[in-house]
Amino acid sequence: MKKKVVLAYSGGLDTSCIVLWLAERGFEVVAFLADLGQQEDLKKLGERAKKIGAAKVYIKDLKEEFVQDFILPAIKANAVYENKYLLATALGRPLIAKYLVEVAHKEKAKYIAHGCTGKGNDQVRIELTANILDKNLEIIAPVREWEFKSREQEIEFARKRKIPLDVTRKKPYSLDKNIWGVSIECGALENPYKEPPQDAYQITRAPQDCPAKPKYIVLGFEKGVPVSIDAKKYRTQDLISRLNKLGGMHGVGRSDVVENRLVGIKSREVYEAPAGWIIHTAHKELEALVLDRELAHFKQGIDTKYGELIYYGLWYSPLKKALDGFIHQTQKRITGQVRLKLYKGSCICVGRKSPYSLYKEELATYTEKDKFDQKLAEGFIKLWGMPYKS
Ligand code: ARG
Repeated sequence: MKKKVVLAYSGGLDTSCIVLWLAERGFEVVAFLADLGQQEDLKKLGERAKKIGAAKVYIKDLKEEFVQDFILPAIKANAVYENKYLLATALGRPLIAKYLVEVAHKEKAKYIAHGCTGKGNDQVRIELTANILDKNLEIIAPVREWEFKSREQEIEFARKRKIPLDVTRKKPYSLDKNIWGVSIECGALENPYKEPPQDAYQITRAPQDCPAKPKYIVLGFEKGVPVSIDAKKYRTQDLISRLNKLGGMHGVGRSDVVENRLVGIKSREVYEAPAGWIIHTAHKELEALVLDRELAHFKQGIDTKYGELIYYGLWYSPLKKALDGFIHQTQKRITGQVRLKLYKGSCICVGRKSPYSLYKEELATYTEKDKFDQKLAEGFIKLWGMPYKS
């Protein structure tokens, strides 16, 4: 009997070559395609896998699970890596790995395979997750061990073996896309001093090409979850898609980053996450209004850690689970509305309100409505400053 392997198949050059590479090494290949909202024709890509030599193809729509179980927790934790990356790719990997394991169990396969490079974070995320969920599965990472030294050599291999591909022209970038954002690297971006060429960006307009008039929106939240745009309720998935369109049109959500990869390399990457930045901006504003100072400050540290855990592939770790408990507790009153202004690449908050707001106008005001007892300040300062008095 042939050894069976479940491969995370994307339909691109690498994983297409891998189907054949594995088949030529005696494996029965089961190709797994996940729909995370990358807006590709997965049926067509599945047929491609079969043509190349996959024995079986699974196509799974994981959008709802991705949104509910991965993106929403990331929103509640304001999860971002090194202040600039909203973790679209990093959030998708543990989910893909979860299903690789599930399909492996269903198919009684002993192996899972992926097309990640040995220099990146994604291999770590997929393998770590698979190991946590089933330590007996063996992992094959062909890109780390095969003979091809360049993309050209792979294309040559694909041509010779008649692998159907649409690489008629050289693809200028390496892309990873899902509903939470786009990650773009390679090509012209490898020089960190060079401005990203216009064609690097996939879903956002350049500021100079944006509408001349700002767009105002009101984003509504319930318990930390974005639920409405301009008082109209949406399913989270649809809300994100809508904000991606709106934000993209106004140039919101670009970031140009030099980041620290897990494997110790610095890399230059460009990201787009219009909905992500809009939602994060609004969510943080609402937290600022509702959370008391101690909790708000403490949560910032937890949020940073949470983002790191996602980046490091530790989604299914005990610490991440424990932090979820904390974050859940902090979101109970994150309900309200945030007014935002989208304008030529920027997204700024111009108003916020909540039934749980801790902002008290009668304390903050400098008018005759003032209820703050200024006399109390004197004693407070004396006690507060006592230890420092010379
Ligand atoms: N550097 C990002 C991360 O580690 C994205 C990796 C995938 N990027 C890509 N362009 N294929 O999460």
